[in-house]
Amino acid sequence: MDRPELTIAQALAWAKEQLSAQGVSDDGLFDSAAIDSKILLAACLQQEQVYLHTWPEKHLDEQQMCAFENYICQRSAGHPVAHIIGYRDFWSLRLKVSAATLIPRPETELLVEIALNLPITKDAKVLDLGTGTGAIALALASECLYWSVTGIDKSSAAVSLAKENGVQHQLERVNFIQSDWFSGVEQCAFDLIVTNPPYIEDNNHYLQQGDVRFEPSSALTSGADGLDDIRLIIAQSKKYLANKGYLVIEHGYQQSAQVADIFRDNGFEDIRIEYDLNDLPRVTLGSILPK
Ligand SMILES: C[S@@+](CC[C@H](N)C(=O)[O-])C[C@H]1O[C@@H](n2cnc3c(N)ncnc32)[C@H](O)[C@@H]1O
Repeated sequence: MDRPELTIAQALAWAKEQLSAQGVSDDGLFDSAAIDSKILLAACLQQEQVYLHTWPEKHLDEQQMCAFENYICQRSAGHPVAHIIGYRDFWSLRLKVSAATLIPRPETELLVEIALNLPITKDAKVLDLGTGTGAIALALASECLYWSVTGIDKSSAAVSLAKENGVQHQLERVNFIQSDWFSGVEQCAFDLIVTNPPYIEDNNHYLQQGDVRFEPSSALTSGADGLDDIRLIIAQSKKYLANKGYLVIEHGYQQSAQVADIFRDNGFEDIRIEYDLNDLPRVTLGSILPK
């Protein structure tokens, strides 16, 4: 039996109902079921979301409805929207994503903003540790034509993905290499080191919820208190920073005091904690000043 053709508005209402029934719901702040439905339908139709609002009465053909049903089915099973459509927008860039690394988060744009506002030279040498999709490295390079940016990651699949994203955005000048933190970094005297490292506690219950279930633990967890990688990065960064160079780290909102202490214990100065739009401390930075 032929099924009735749905309009865009009807398909969105159907999808919202399906996702809400699976617990992808309205939490009072965000109506996730409605938001996800729109992103997925726009991706199916290869249109921007404004198209859905402009043409709510337009009918979906059989192929479009099949593709949309498939997307909603995957989302109902918990798969992240970014994995279903294959990309995530970060800063001004549309980045390809994969199961090899973290899906870039909007919170990380705070780190990019802070880095861009630091008093560093026009031709700065910049290192992004744990680059993943290349999100931070590429965002910085897209804003600062004369910065020389290197992104490293332990995962070879992440490095390939970051390179692909660089090519996609004509940012091939960003150098991506595979490295276990600093082990493969030959240069030193970086003016800026940025990182969004793994910082979740190994046994955190949050790891059983939402998108993180589909992301590799190597991108998320870092020991019993979540700070193993941050301790190592802060201790080693000193050797790789130029005088007046900055280290900027994203961390969990409950870790800022401990992270600031680690900076202090390692001789950093000008230590600052920065807050996100929800007034949560998400980024800490410090500098190595000349003696
Ligand atoms: C939280 S993700 C951040 C990804 C990306 N920078 C972003 O903000 O979307 C952490 C990244 O660090 C990488 N990583 C974990 N341990 C590492 C190590 N020992 N050396 C280098 N990279 C590492 C992971 O593969 C992952 O891509």
